[in-house]
Amino acid sequence: MASSRSLSTTPTPKIGILTSGGDCPGLNAVIRSVVKCATQRGWEIYGIPYGTQGLITLEQGNCHSQDFRLYDHGFDIPGLLHGMDILQFLSGSILGSLNKGNPSDPLIAQEILEGYQKLGLDALIALGGDGSLDIINDLAEQGHWNWIAIPKTIDNDVPLTERALGFDTAVDTVTRALYDLTFTAASHSRIIVVQVMGRDAGHLALQSGIAGGADVILIPELTPQLTDSVLDDVCQQIVKLRHNDRQFALIVLAEGVRNQAGKKEKYIGDSLAKQIQHHSDRLCQTGNPEFCVLQGLETRATTLGHIQRSSMPSSFDRLIAAAFGRKAVELIAAQQYQQMVIWSQGQVDSRPLSMVIPLIKQRHQAHQCTRPVELSDPWVTTARDLGIYVGSSAEWDQDQDQELDTKLEQELDTELDQELDTELEQEKATDLPQKTSFAFSQAALGEAL
Ligand code: F6P
Repeated sequence: MASSRSLSTTPTPKIGILTSGGDCPGLNAVIRSVVKCATQRGWEIYGIPYGTQGLITLEQGNCHSQDFRLYDHGFDIPGLLHGMDILQFLSGSILGSLNKGNPSDPLIAQEILEGYQKLGLDALIALGGDGSLDIINDLAEQGHWNWIAIPKTIDNDVPLTERALGFDTAVDTVTRALYDLTFTAASHSRIIVVQVMGRDAGHLALQSGIAGGADVILIPELTPQLTDSVLDDVCQQIVKLRHNDRQFALIVLAEGVRNQAGKKEKYIGDSLAKQIQHHSDRLCQTGNPEFCVLQGLETRATTLGHIQRSSMPSSFDRLIAAAFGRKAVELIAAQQYQQMVIWSQGQVDSRPLSMVIPLIKQRHQAHQCTRPVELSDPWVTTARDLGIYVGSSAEWDQDQDQELDTKLEQELDTELDQELDTELEQEKATDLPQKTSFAFSQAALGEAL
């Protein structure tokens, strides 16, 4: 497979963008940012539909490269709203996204690589979570693609970035749901268990639980399994609330927490609700009278589901989206490829994929979360100090993970120092401001799909 074209020798650079994996709020805002920043440089932008699937469609001759063109002049909304720039407010992805398919099948991979070749891109910007970024990196290595990764996921579990796109909005969505559920829980004196997404990570449950006033937050990092001792503690917490005349309770449960048998369950919230009732009855009947106050207290479960992926992006996610998109274009302009843009200490930055991908692979192989909540996470301390029950033990070896991260960070610092001067020089040389009109060809994309 021939290597990608070189940006420096191309009269009109062509860059592609795709969204891969589960959707999340803010994807369109990144696409908008990339289109605007790249168009100003005089580049052509191609939006690949349905992740790498669009490249297969192209390779099979079911659409043309030009069908993928994205232009900087918004949607054709009639009347006085014409020209309104709504992409940054829209959830989902105008390009579509896929979290299925198997590019590890050599025949499928071959089609994707040939589709990419046919599109003739100088560089690709791909938005994905840990799984998608790993897959795209493998393809990029095979096809010698120049690419930039943008981390996105409501799970916030992409290594080496404090924030992934979409997480902030999801925290808001769950927080709002908890607010709403508080009133019905209080009105019926119920315990409500709220099952929250996050895969194997507890960031979403932890942060929304604190913001939404939960009494108990169960996350895989701190309470990996619903053991008898966790159930004892949860019941104890509710007894404590009852003694303070609280008639209801809110429990936030991350979907990654396993059942008593150590297995994952799709509706683990339902199981927990039933277990709390049985467990408190048992405790009461086996000589623990304090738990008898829980008898007759109804426990119900709500699974929030995909609504967590679909609200209007928060202002913070829109800001991150703008910064991530701009940074990705800037890195391409400086020909600094194979990087992932990251959010660190309140600003956008980047890290070489050679640091990110091995971490992801290593954790996938060990069936570990790619960026778990650490015991030292300030939100864990905050929850505990507020009297929220968050469990007490961790079954993963946090020290080992931290050691590895520190080692990789140190290697990176040296590498970054060397790269910085080169980057600045290249940035100075690349400045192609060019104003164009804004048009995204929806019809063409529709045909391509
Ligand atoms: O990774 C994002 C996520 O929303 C997880 O929190 C959740 O477990 C999963 O995707 C759901 O995926 P699907 O939409 O394929 O069921």
